[in-house]
This record gives sequence, C-alpha cells and structure tokens, in this order.
Amino acid sequence: MNDSRKPYIAGNWKMNLDRSRALDLIKTIKGRLGDGSDREVAVFSPAVYLADISAVAQGSPLGVGAQNLWYDKEGAFTGELAAHMLREVGADRVLVGHSERRHVFGEKDDWMARKLRAALESDLLPILCVGETLDERKGNRTERVLKRQLETAFLDIRQDEIRRVTVAYEPVWAIGTGEVASPEQVGEAHRFVRRWIANKLGAEAGSAIRILYGGSVNPGNVKTLMAVEDVDGVLVGGASLKPDTFLPIIEFER
Ligand code: PGA
Repeated sequence: MNDSRKPYIAGNWKMNLDRSRALDLIKTIKGRLGDGSDREVAVFSPAVYLADISAVAQGSPLGVGAQNLWYDKEGAFTGELAAHMLREVGADRVLVGHSERRHVFGEKDDWMARKLRAALESDLLPILCVGETLDERKGNRTERVLKRQLETAFLDIRQDEIRRVTVAYEPVWAIGTGEVASPEQVGEAHRFVRRWIANKLGAEAGSAIRILYGGSVNPGNVKTLMAVEDVDGVLVGGASLKPDTFLPIIEFER
C-alpha cells in the first residue's frame, strides 16, 4: 500500500445472489460506508440487478459495476451488453477480462484493448484483470503471460487516461480455491505490472495506476495482502457475498 493511492475494495458477485439478497447486501454496505474519503468501495453485480442496485447506492460513495461488456455500440451480438447500456442502468465501472471470461468463455487477449476503449468512451471505469494459470506459473511463465495480457490490453491507452484504469492481478489458481498467493508472489507480480506500465506510459503513470490483488481474499488475509508494497486494493469474489465476510474486508485496518 502507498499513501498516494486510495485503497480500492471491490466485490465481484459473479453469478450469485438473487435480487432481494443483492439489495439487502447493498443497503448494509451503504449503511456502513463513511464518506469514501479514505477508501473506494464498489460491487460488480449481475447486470440484471444493476438498475435497482444503483438506485439504492445513489447518494453514497459506493461504486456499482458490471462484470463484462462488449465493445461495439450496437448490432447483432445476441446476449451481449454495450458500455452505454450499462451506463444507462447506473453502472459507473466494469470488469474487463476476468479470468472466468477468458478461460471459461474463451475471451481473447485482443478483445481487451477494444473493451477498455469502449468502457472509457462511455465513462465507465474499467478494472482490467490479468493473471497466470497454475501450469503457466509452474512453467515459470508468469511474467511472460502478464506481459502479453498487458501489451494486448494497453495497446492504445493514453497517459491521461491511466487514472481511470485499474489493473487486478488475479492468479487463476488462487481464484475460488481458498489458496491465496503468498505476499512474495503478489509483490513480485504487482511490481512487474507497475514497472511495465511505467515503461510504457511514464513514471507518473506507473506510480498513479492502482493494482488490486484478487484470489481467495478473506477477512483473515486482507491486512497482510494490503501491506504488500504495490498492492492498492483487493478484488473479492466469494467473501463479497455476505456482510459477515465483506464488511471486515472493506473495513480492514490500515
Ligand atoms: P475469489 O474470487 O475471491 O472467490 O477467489 C476472486 C475473483 O474472481 O475476482
């Protein structure tokens, strides 16, 4: 963690919760948030609940995001949602390239630059997710994979846009497995991402970009993870589904 970057706590609900539980959870989180000055909190909800959730979140600093988008504005893309549609139902941010999108649904590296562009053009704050599989880590290919994912996604991101973009490092083997990456592994990967961005877009961009860690974050490990240099926040899946586990993560002691 670094005082110049505001900690960012994001919950990724994936395909979980029903409408009434989602709304209850939002009300609870909203009731516990301060003025948002010392940390940024957001939930990434199933798209069908976004309108209701953003109505409840209104007037609070809670961010409301979608879990995916398609980069065209309209057309014959059955089942997909455009950035402006998400914006219209109250989303102010969006995940791009989550590992489940890449690995379960076959999303391609070269879609990511266009997704980032579409998000930024519709005023959605993107979180670009990157991370290696277990095989890639075992084969010592972690940095090569991160480099490829960053190169293809940051193709045309400009220096002046970097403050609106966040990167989440999520090792695929740590997502939903209960196996959290060690502070050393997290520190190395985050340093690599920050240096890559500094090389591409300049030192200022490198120090401004926020890099979140994701993968089996829970109330017991959040403090250790947040203490790692270059970790600016967490992207939380399973533990973001209940107040018992999400609130202590949001309220981690700095
Ligand atoms: P997890 O998921 O916290 O359940 O491991 C994290 C994510 O996929 O963003």
